[in-house]
Amino acid sequence: MRKVAIIGVGHVGSTTAYTLISKNIVDELVLFDSKDTILKAELNDLMDGQMEQANQVRLIGPDVAELADTDVIIFSAGDISIFEGNPDRFAELNLTKTIVEEWAPVIRDSGFEGIILNITNPCDVITQYLQELTELPQERVIGTGTSLDTGRMKHAISKSMKVHPSAIDGYVIGEHGESQFVAWSSVRIGGTPISEILTDDRLDVLDNAARDGGWVTFRGKGYTSYGIAIQAARIAEAILNDNHLVVPVSHYHQAEGCYVGSPAKVSRQGISESFPLKLSTAEQEKWRHTIQTIHSMHATI
Ligand SMILES: NC(=O)c1ccc[n+]([C@@H]2O[C@H](COP(=O)([O-])OP(=O)(O)OC[C@H]3O[C@@H](n4cnc5c(N)ncnc54)[C@H](O)[C@@H]3O)[C@@H](O)[C@H]2O)c1
Repeated sequence: MRKVAIIGVGHVGSTTAYTLISKNIVDELVLFDSKDTILKAELNDLMDGQMEQANQVRLIGPDVAELADTDVIIFSAGDISIFEGNPDRFAELNLTKTIVEEWAPVIRDSGFEGIILNITNPCDVITQYLQELTELPQERVIGTGTSLDTGRMKHAISKSMKVHPSAIDGYVIGEHGESQFVAWSSVRIGGTPISEILTDDRLDVLDNAARDGGWVTFRGKGYTSYGIAIQAARIAEAILNDNHLVVPVSHYHQAEGCYVGSPAKVSRQGISESFPLKLSTAEQEKWRHTIQTIHSMHATI
């Protein structure tokens, strides 16, 4: 049985639930939200939605006892309206740290033995705080990190160069936030380094497009949902199926003393291997800056 729990079924949690069900990634799905009316509505709508599906997911209401044999907890509780007029993921920390303080002891005492996949912002700091308060092994607490930003980078390149995304290799790394950057030295199109194809000016434009991609969506609809739901679902699938997906997730970097996004192998036991990129001198400087940013955010908790 593949069992996932989602804590916080707002725009992101509910779209992730829908994605897990429609892509046949789960057998059992437990939903939690502090707003009872939202929770009941989402459970009902998802139930309606799966009526014509061949696979029927067991949809379960909020019961902490269900966490004991849950494989993956997806943490997506927060309040997206905080970003209105305040375009920095750091803005949500005052609220989201209190949600971690509420849920971490519950998760710890539930007998949960699986993997936590955090989406809630600021993603790297909240993932670290979840690990610290649940006291789960570091490899079993992961954040979606720069997986979505890497998707946004591929979107920008694919549109600008008119190439299929499958031809694009490479990563956005660092904080899931303003100090993230495209590690251009890792990016290849059909095996050719992109730096041999595009000028630095064009790379700068694409870097900004990747960083601002989320705000384009946010400004239009007040939240983002599909991009992150697809990333969360594929990472959850990698854990459930033990498929060794290499993806830029937020995970603990011993040398840096914090959680930060970079490519890592995701398997049934969580993070099984980290793949440090060979960065250029300029990229190393950006890496140091992003690490400092994460440390100073974490220090405010
Ligand atoms: N990491 C990423 O790439 C990424 C992408 C998009 C959104 N996000 C983040 O994901 C989170 C959710 O975004 P959203 O658009 O769904 O927000 P939202 O405001 O639509 O939904 C948040 C949900 O969390 C619930 N909630 C609040 N406090 C709770 C608590 N104590 N216990 C249980 N549930 C609680 C709310 O009732 C609400 O239903 C935010 O932190 C957002 O910034 C991250």
